[in-house]
Amino acid sequence: MANAAVSAEAKGGVISRREFLYYIWGASIALYAAQFSGLLIWFLLPRFREGEFGGKFLVSMDDLPDVNSAPINMPAGRFWLVNLDTTQPNELMKKAPDETQDIIGVAAIYKVCTHLGCIYAWTDVNNRFECPCHGSKYRLDGRRIESPAPRTLDRFRLEFLDADKNPIPGTQSELVDDFYIPVPLTDNAAFISVDTGDRKKGPSQELLCSFADACP
Ligand code: FES
Repeated sequence: MANAAVSAEAKGGVISRREFLYYIWGASIALYAAQFSGLLIWFLLPRFREGEFGGKFLVSMDDLPDVNSAPINMPAGRFWLVNLDTTQPNELMKKAPDETQDIIGVAAIYKVCTHLGCIYAWTDVNNRFECPCHGSKYRLDGRRIESPAPRTLDRFRLEFLDADKNPIPGTQSELVDDFYIPVPLTDNAAFISVDTGDRKKGPSQELLCSFADACP
C-alpha cells in the first residue's frame, strides 16, 4: 500500500493502468456486496403484514360462532370461520354416510367458489353456502352439496393462541390427505390466528345430494 502511494506520488499523482483496474475491481465487489445485502434483507422481511390478506389474522375467541351455527364472515381475510361438531348434529351440520370420523373443531374456509372463482355466501334460509354464479352449494364445513363445483372449499391453516398471544402447542391445523382438518377447541385459547398465506385445496368428495338421491 505504502509502495503504491509512493509509486503514485512518484508519478506525480497519475494513476497507473494496474491501479485503475484494482479500483474498478474493488468497486465492483462493493456493488455486488451491497446488492446481495439488499436482496437478503428483502427476502427476510415478511411479505404480508398482520391483518392483510396473505398474512395472519387474529380473531378473538369471543367472535367464534357457536357450535354448528351460522359462520362468521371475515371479509378482510376473505374467509369464513366455522365451529363444527358432528357429535351434536343439527340442520346445518351432520355426518354424511361416507364419513366414518366425527368432524370436530374450528376451520377457516376460503371465500372463493371452487368452480370458477365467484364469491359465494352463507344463506340463512337454506342453512348452507350458495354460489350465485352457477348454483354450487356447500355444507357448513365447505363440503359440496351440489355441483358444478369440482371439490370442497379450500381452507387456511390456523392455530390457537393464549391471552399473551403465544401459540398453544399442539393446536396447529393438521393435514390429512393434504387438507387442513378442523382444530378442536382448547380450554386456555384466547385468540385464533388464521394464516391466509397458507391455503390447502379441498378434496373431491362425493356430492352430499347424492346420498339423498336429490341431485338436480
Ligand atoms: S363459480 Fe360458483 S358455481 Fe360457478
